[in-house]
Amino acid sequence: MDKQFKRTLVTCALPYANGPIHIGHLAGVYVPADIYVRYLRMRGKEVLYVCGSDEHGVPITIKARQQGCSPQDIVDRYHGIIKDSFEGLGIHFDIYGRTSSKVHADTSSEFFRRLYDAGKFITKESEQYYDPEAKTFLADRYIVGTCPKCGNEGAYGDQCEKCGSTLSPEELINPKSKLSGAAPVKKKTTHWYLPLQDYEPWLREWILEGHTEWRSNVYGQVKSWLDGGLQPRAVTRDLDWGVPVPVEGAEGKVLYVWFDAPIGYISNTKELLPDSWEKWWKSPDTRLIHFIGKDNIVFHCIVFPSMLKAYGDGFILPDNVPANEFLNLEGDKISTSRGWAVWAHEYLQDFPGKEDVLRYVLTANAPETKDNDFSWKDFQQRNNSELVAIFGNFVNRAMVLTHKYFDGKVPPCGTLEDIDREALAEIPALKASMERNLEGFRFREALKDAMGIARVGNKYISDTEPWKVAKTDLDRTATILNLSLQICADLAIAFEPFTPFAAKRLREMLGSPLDWEVLGRPQILPAGHVLGAAELLFAKIEDDAIDRQLARLDAIRAEREAAAKAEAAKQVAPQKDGCTFDEFEKMDIRTATVLEAERVPKTDKLLKLTIDTGIDRRVIVSGIAEYYSPEAMVGRQICILANLQPRTIRGIESKGMILMAKQGDGSMRFITPEEAVCNGAQIG
Ligand code: 2FM
Ligand code: ZN
Repeated sequence: MDKQFKRTLVTCALPYANGPIHIGHLAGVYVPADIYVRYLRMRGKEVLYVCGSDEHGVPITIKARQQGCSPQDIVDRYHGIIKDSFEGLGIHFDIYGRTSSKVHADTSSEFFRRLYDAGKFITKESEQYYDPEAKTFLADRYIVGTCPKCGNEGAYGDQCEKCGSTLSPEELINPKSKLSGAAPVKKKTTHWYLPLQDYEPWLREWILEGHTEWRSNVYGQVKSWLDGGLQPRAVTRDLDWGVPVPVEGAEGKVLYVWFDAPIGYISNTKELLPDSWEKWWKSPDTRLIHFIGKDNIVFHCIVFPSMLKAYGDGFILPDNVPANEFLNLEGDKISTSRGWAVWAHEYLQDFPGKEDVLRYVLTANAPETKDNDFSWKDFQQRNNSELVAIFGNFVNRAMVLTHKYFDGKVPPCGTLEDIDREALAEIPALKASMERNLEGFRFREALKDAMGIARVGNKYISDTEPWKVAKTDLDRTATILNLSLQICADLAIAFEPFTPFAAKRLREMLGSPLDWEVLGRPQILPAGHVLGAAELLFAKIEDDAIDRQLARLDAIRAEREAAAKAEAAKQVAPQKDGCTFDEFEKMDIRTATVLEAERVPKTDKLLKLTIDTGIDRRVIVSGIAEYYSPEAMVGRQICILANLQPRTIRGIESKGMILMAKQGDGSMRFITPEEAVCNGAQIG
């Protein structure tokens, strides 16, 4: 760790308060940040840990409108749910603030005003969509219409959620305002912009030359933005929810959510420490670290730093931005709108007492260098064969045997044998590796190191078999259990950042200290030290708990597939090229009744139908077996093209064709007269 810093300010991306948080958020931002903060604190570092709800932005206003309540009602509800989820998972920020607070409004207004007064903005007039009935400008999300790419009628002005295309409102076919349904019109409006291009040379020097140590995904994204050329960014919006733009002539305008949200880190610090917040934001002795997901990189590495630079006054810049990639769920992208997620608050209800398991699995699978997948089977497997079978099992054996043979007191350590020395020697190396990994933001690797200590312990106790040795040599048993208990004390320290609930319970059982420096030292627990009762640290997760989660996801998947199918069925094929009346007249279409029906052997799709055409009795082979069983066809009146050239299909001569209505999803239904008519009636 860099010696020049006296303290560390850790921020976590402020989650939008328009929905609960899910495992993607946790794995991407909050669990790694929490590991880092817990580690620094254990090492005695001065740390401030700041987060809060991001309570502005258009999606919140849309949700409020959908639910018939105010945006404030929405953010009040989700702020509470999110805050409780963090607490429940052991993520205790020093402050979890809100961007709808007064301190935030004052801070972000003042921030804007100072840049405005210093001439740091440019203004631009542009034409934007306006709802003439609701008398308001429309954010892109408030405009819906038909997607020009896939025909989805519910595409938004910024994106089609069906085909994933990025759109602009201009591209929508038949655009409508979501507010009134009126056709939007273009109207001139003026906004303030931060001319990011002016900061480009400085950003290049600061990041591309000065921070080559940043993660390659972060560095690479910054480089590609800079190489692509920066453009002025609008920092205001025409909207009625947000921090009002604090200058004259800005009625009906608010600060753009991505302008005010990062200032939320500062205002939340101010809220907590009104008299000393500047020490955290304006001292070169403070190291600022932003934990975020990859979709936030541009805002934290380019936009917010440019805002801080423009503001001046000694604001520090991030020393690192360890952004993670995305976590998928069971092979599919997590999606709030589709409900494809594992919600933190639901997890806490479904798996009480298993907060650590989620933290552990999300760290072991953390999407640090590439997108990664969460699966419930992997979750179960990691719990049962790692936390229970290695870590928990080892601790339990050491504790139970100590109670059995030594009355729950740490027995004395006698002469060491090679096997003892070898096991103990591994721990300082694992500790050093863990330090390098934690300080380098490689939390997956750090967790492997911690688990390495548990593996050393588990192997040591299995190899030395104290339960057998006890029958003949209690002195040797004492040494083995003494060393095993020292390793348990190591684990209670090493796992504090990752599984803090279990680590705390273990320390309580052992009566052991939480001090990073003693990890790996001999005799953390002195001989004679009295232990608490042995308790299981982790419990097995049975199949039924996992099956319930999988069934929930299956139901969502099935619902989604049914909706997609219904949507596809509605797609209508374009009209064919014209045909003449004479061409049509050539076709002999008439009614017929199915007399017999059977499957054509060795095919899935074909039925052999014997029909009465009114003219004759004949056979037609038709590809409808996917939709109708032979029994369902017998006795049905259908329509046929009678004079189609006969064809031999699978050795059967087929004379004519059954007329079918084919839907967009490929499914087919035969055509039947509205009421029974005689066979052979001509259709035309
Ligand atoms: O992406 C998001 O969820 C944003 N609400 C993150 C904001 S981070 C910060 F700038 F406030
Ligand atoms: Zn589309």
